[in-house]
Amino acid sequence: MNKADVVFENILSRKSVRSYTNQKVSRDDLMKIVKAGMAAPTAINIQPWEFIVIDDPKILADLGGVNRAGQMIAKAPAAIIVAGNMDAYKDRPNARDFWVQDTSAATENILLQIEAMGLGAVWTAAFPVQERMDGIRKVLNLPDNIIPLNVIAVGYPDTENKPKDKWKENKLHWNAY
Ligand SMILES: Cc1cc2nc3c(=O)[nH]c(=O)nc-3n(C[C@H](O)[C@H](O)[C@H](O)COP(=O)(O)O)c2cc1C
Repeated sequence: MNKADVVFENILSRKSVRSYTNQKVSRDDLMKIVKAGMAAPTAINIQPWEFIVIDDPKILADLGGVNRAGQMIAKAPAAIIVAGNMDAYKDRPNARDFWVQDTSAATENILLQIEAMGLGAVWTAAFPVQERMDGIRKVLNLPDNIIPLNVIAVGYPDTENKPKDKWKENKLHWNAY
């Protein structure tokens, strides 16, 4: 397959995976995944992100308790919290609202890298749900300038997961809505 086909196939294959085997994800693999995240585009190239990688089962269990829709985190071998660092905007306060887009772009890079490595993951929301953000802040002892966007649970899939076909031709508009 040529590069364009490999990339397109990987994008179409990505799906949320919520159940994992006990196999650990190596720190080398986790670092590679975060490297993919840090390659994402950001507004004015501010790179307002922090990536907190968790592979300690006790902390994973605590994080899983924060969000009813994120209980798979407790059973995952690892998780990555993608967060915005508001200190990045000290000189550009008007750009602050871009942090969600920047960290979301990093998150999608991470999910695609995970898919390509034969791992599985799910994006579980923190921002803008105050209760979840507060819970994560407490578990990780985050300072006020760090806002968690999400917790990405990651591990080796223990079931077959099929990607959803989301293509709808009527959502595509040429030259006018
Ligand atoms: C912003 C955002 C928040 C999400 N939060 C959760 C969550 O808290 N728990 C969960 O199980 N899935 C969560 N998901 C995953 C979605 O449910 C999932 O992406 C969607 O159903 C489409 O399925 P797919 O990822 O397999 O294509 C979230 C996804 C996004 C983009």
